[in-house]
Amino acid sequence: MSASSDTHNTLSGEEPTRRDFIHIFGASVAAVGVIGVAVPLVDQMNPDASVLALSTKEVDLSGVPVGQAVKVMWQGKPVFIRHRTGEEIKQAEETPLSALKDPIARNDNLPGKDDAEDKNRVINPAWVVVVGVCTHLGCVPLGTSQGESRGDFDGWFCPCHGSHYDVAGRIRKGPAPENLLVPPYQFLTDTTIRIG
Ligand code: FES
Repeated sequence: MSASSDTHNTLSGEEPTRRDFIHIFGASVAAVGVIGVAVPLVDQMNPDASVLALSTKEVDLSGVPVGQAVKVMWQGKPVFIRHRTGEEIKQAEETPLSALKDPIARNDNLPGKDDAEDKNRVINPAWVVVVGVCTHLGCVPLGTSQGESRGDFDGWFCPCHGSHYDVAGRIRKGPAPENLLVPPYQFLTDTTIRIG
């Protein structure tokens, strides 16, 4: 019997021949073999708990009063977390897109290139979370510690070349080309976030 008639037998619903059975059995053994090799490989690629712990950072925000901010380190980079006042939220939400230098959200929690409206920069409007690295040449802007200049837009200020960010971390004035990056994060409770 030719190969094409073997195929025809199987497709037409006739009883499989002994040769069909050998083919099917051989293919099954091969598939099990591939899975047997693949599982250890995938297992090796899964980071263990200690690596995951280094790549994420849990932050308790319960001690950050309204109007103040904190800086934490995540993956070797500073992250600013600002507890915004109602007035600051209003100011950020009412800023028209036409006033923004960089119209893109730059939010790692959003998959696409959403616009930089305030709602696309935050999860909870009371809290702004941004990577504290100026998008000009990589300095760490001022405005997180009390008494530091927050610039002309009440957010953060990078004094080396004069970049001003607003209360949503969006670049408003100066040479920095992009908004401060919003890192991946989630709220674990009302006052605890996990970054990364
Ligand atoms: S690095 Fe921030 S303005 Fe130059």
